[in-house]
Formats: sequence, structure tokens, C-alpha cells
Amino acid sequence: METQRLDKILASTGRFSRKEARNLIRGGRLLVDGKPVRDPSAKFDPEGVRLTADGEDIAYRRTTWVMLNKPAGYLSATEDRHGPTVLELLPPELRNLFPVGRLDKDTVGLLLLTNDGALAHTLLSPRHHVEKVYEARVSGRLTDADVTAFREGLTLSDGLQCLPAALEILSAGDAESLCRVTVREGKFHQVRRMLGERGNTVLSLERIRMGNLPLDTSLGRGSFRFLTEEEVENLGIFS
Ligand code: URA
Repeated sequence: METQRLDKILASTGRFSRKEARNLIRGGRLLVDGKPVRDPSAKFDPEGVRLTADGEDIAYRRTTWVMLNKPAGYLSATEDRHGPTVLELLPPELRNLFPVGRLDKDTVGLLLLTNDGALAHTLLSPRHHVEKVYEARVSGRLTDADVTAFREGLTLSDGLQCLPAALEILSAGDAESLCRVTVREGKFHQVRRMLGERGNTVLSLERIRMGNLPLDTSLGRGSFRFLTEEEVENLGIFS
């Protein structure tokens, strides 16, 4: 593998920001193969060295995975002239990541970002039918007839045939209802269109799970954290 700057290698583990990594290195607290290296710009092959910070082994990760609790108003894109993108919610050293699929500008909740093209592609591939779970507040009353229609697979007015999906009614009122929708595909505006087809306009939409990974509810809107090694491993195992 190509050599990389030491501060970059450390920051890519997700345990330190680039600045923290630099301070750690300059302070002589980082050992490379057992010897302190105090120059953050010194280059090494990340897979060919053993790094120890404050006496603890640091596992190098070739890929970076981040879970963002997306707020409304941000575009799931790497660049866009029509408004701020989710990358602006990440520190500069993580702006090389890309979103795994898209949430609409006004959809909130779980959005993964990564530089792992292969696993991202697998997660998004229609062949794998990875579950995506949303909570939606909609206009009007949802009924058992809607649950059945989702289960049987809706055909939208534009002809799109949806796969069978699960609709769980959390509360139903004449003016508004709350529901949980589980889909196994990811067509453009899919959940909004499915609920719209049944006569219910989506008032707010939040993604709460992707595959077997739930949104970490301790993350405030607009906050992110790195996935753990275990979470990344589990991402590749589809239920
Ligand atoms: N379905 C939608 O309609 N919008 C989203 O952002 C995600 C799923």
C-alpha cells in the first residue's frame, strides 16, 4: 500500500481528529514499531507498521464509516449548487467520504458516509434488498387497508411496482397519523410516494434503521460518530 502521513493514518482510524493526532505525535506519545516518531508528516505504509498511542495498539482501518444523524435542509451529495451538503457537517479531514445512498433534503435520521465503495455498493444494490426503516408523520388517517396494500406491493400511479413493504401504524387520527415503514428497495422519494399513493402526504420523515444498524439515538441531529469495527462487520451481513 502507498505510504501516508502519520497524522492522516491516525485520523483515519476514527479515534483522533487530525489536530489531536498531530498533538499526540509531537508530544512523543506515538510509537511506530516501538519507537517514538515526532514528525506528523513522516510517511509510512499504514499496513506495514505497528502503531502504539499512549501504550495502546492502534488498529489501522483501510476504510472509514461514519453514522450521521442528518438534519433537515442538507443534501445527501458531495457537492451541490442548490444548498449545503451533508459533508459540511463533517470536519475537513472527513470530507473525502461520500453518502451511502440518498435521503431527501427534508428527511432526517440515519445516513452512512464512507470511503468504502465496495461495501457501499453492496448495501445499495437492489439485489440485496437491504431493509430501510423509516418513521413518518402523515396527513390523514392510516387504516388496515393501507397495511394490506403495502404488504401486497403497491403499484404507483406512474406505473412503478413496489416490492412488498411493511407498514406499522403507530397512531392514527383523522388529521394525522404516525407510522413505521420498512422497505427493501430505495427508489427516488419512495416512502413519500408510497404513502402519497394511499392519499397520505408525508409531513416528516426519519430513517431509523439501515440493514441491521439502528440510528444511534444518543446522536443529536447534525452529529456524527464513527462506526465500531463490529458495526462495520455486521453491515455486510444482511438479515
Ligand atoms: N423515501 C423517501 O421518500 N425519501 C427519503 O428521503 C427516503 C426514503
